[in-house]
Amino acid sequence: MSSIRQLSAFLALAAFAAAAPRMHKREALPDYAITYAPLSYLYSGEKWFPSDITVHLANVQPEVDFNATGTNGSVTLDTLDTLSSDVYLTASDGPILNPLDGTPDWLTSEYGIPSSDGLSAAPGLIIAAEKNSTTTDVFYFYFYSYNYGGGVLDINFDDHVGDWEHVMIRFVNEEPYAIYLSEHSGGSAYYWDVVDFSGERPITYIAYGGHANYVTAGSQNYTIALGLISDTTDAGYLWDMTLNYRGYWYDTETGTFTVAPGAGTGASEEESETADWLNWLGYWGDEQYPDGLLDDIETGQYCIVGECHYTGGPTGPADKNLNRTTMCESTSKSCPVYDNINDLTTLS
Ligand SMILES: *[C@@H]1O[C@H](CO)[C@@H](O)[C@H](O)[C@H]1NC(C)=O
Ligand SMILES: *[C@@H]1O[C@H](CO)[C@@H](O)[C@H](O)[C@H]1NC(C)=O
Ligand SMILES: *[C@@H]1O[C@H](CO)[C@@H](O)[C@H](O)[C@H]1NC(C)=O
Ligand SMILES: *[C@@H]1O[C@H](CO)[C@@H](O)[C@H](O)[C@H]1NC(C)=O
Ligand SMILES: *[C@@H]1O[C@H](CO)[C@@H](O)[C@H](O)[C@H]1NC(C)=O
Repeated sequence: MSSIRQLSAFLALAAFAAAAPRMHKREALPDYAITYAPLSYLYSGEKWFPSDITVHLANVQPEVDFNATGTNGSVTLDTLDTLSSDVYLTASDGPILNPLDGTPDWLTSEYGIPSSDGLSAAPGLIIAAEKNSTTTDVFYFYFYSYNYGGGVLDINFDDHVGDWEHVMIRFVNEEPYAIYLSEHSGGSAYYWDVVDFSGERPITYIAYGGHANYVTAGSQNYTIALGLISDTTDAGYLWDMTLNYRGYWYDTETGTFTVAPGAGTGASEEESETADWLNWLGYWGDEQYPDGLLDDIETGQYCIVGECHYTGGPTGPADKNLNRTTMCESTSKSCPVYDNINDLTTLS
């Protein structure tokens, strides 16, 4: 009798063990993902604020090769994953030729300006990816409807609709080990102890316009256009993503996403959503316009020494190497983990 009871208990346990480990459906994110989440500062002179992906989707139309595509010319979070991966979510207002004039409203996203306690109405994204029994990477994704690349004199480079940036914290045995910050097409990683903190939370700075992430305030050693353009950060607007975010798990074995409870409006919006939209691998902004297509000399498209005024929109979180083994997104560049926050990042 007792051995039968033991056997059935064992079988139940075995069935549970077989089903449970990778089923993260609506399972809460680990506490440490919130305890050690970055506190981020947008630049004091920022003009393109955090955006809600649902507001973004309401203002774009799916296009392939500059022609409308998809069922009815519109897209929502529910229908996003039905689009093919060559689709560009293109501004319904037409090409944005004068980004500095403060229109359209959905691109500047002033609704996303954080309150004095750091609450932005635009939900962030927190994605946890368990790598193995000791290591979990937590990704904090920042989304903006517009990336203003900055310029030299009247020449401006790398403007695009849609901007995905991220910070990743690697936890080993539930303790923070190191932090990675995306900077345009690259990024930098630092050992945990060497960055600046507010309480237990690392402080990060988001550069003006292009929203690259840094661990210091000031002029940054990021350069395009032959070194003529650099990024600038300061402690402008505090943004605490943990007050409002959508949460997800990324299963590194199967490559699938599931919903985890979020916070704020991100949590309430998530109630009626699935994680399927994250599987879409297309572009979150207009396709890069051919050189000379928009022919106004100041506002049109031009490319100089390989850098263009308007570039194509970025791909989303699923394309940011969530299954990485090193700290960095790129597998082709070397990935040093710095032990000094002034290494390579600060220009002066
Ligand atoms: C897009 O539309 C243009 C005309 O407006 C047409 O010449 C071109 O073939 C179309 N491209 C595709 C992929 O349908
Ligand atoms: C068509 O557009 C509406 C909103 O404009 C949306 O609610 C609906 O899901 C779309 N239908 C399809 C099949 O994409
Ligand atoms: C993630 O990487 C591991 C090896 O590090 C590999 O076994 C696994 O298949 C990868 N997952 C996906 C979804 O590609
Ligand atoms: C767990 O994954 C991390 C990141 O890929 C790796 O550095 C570490 O060696 C792995 N640990 C074990 C025990 O497999
Ligand atoms: C700026 O970065 C480049 C390449 O990343 C590096 O060679 C250079 O030494 C850096 N300059 C400073 C002052 O850190």
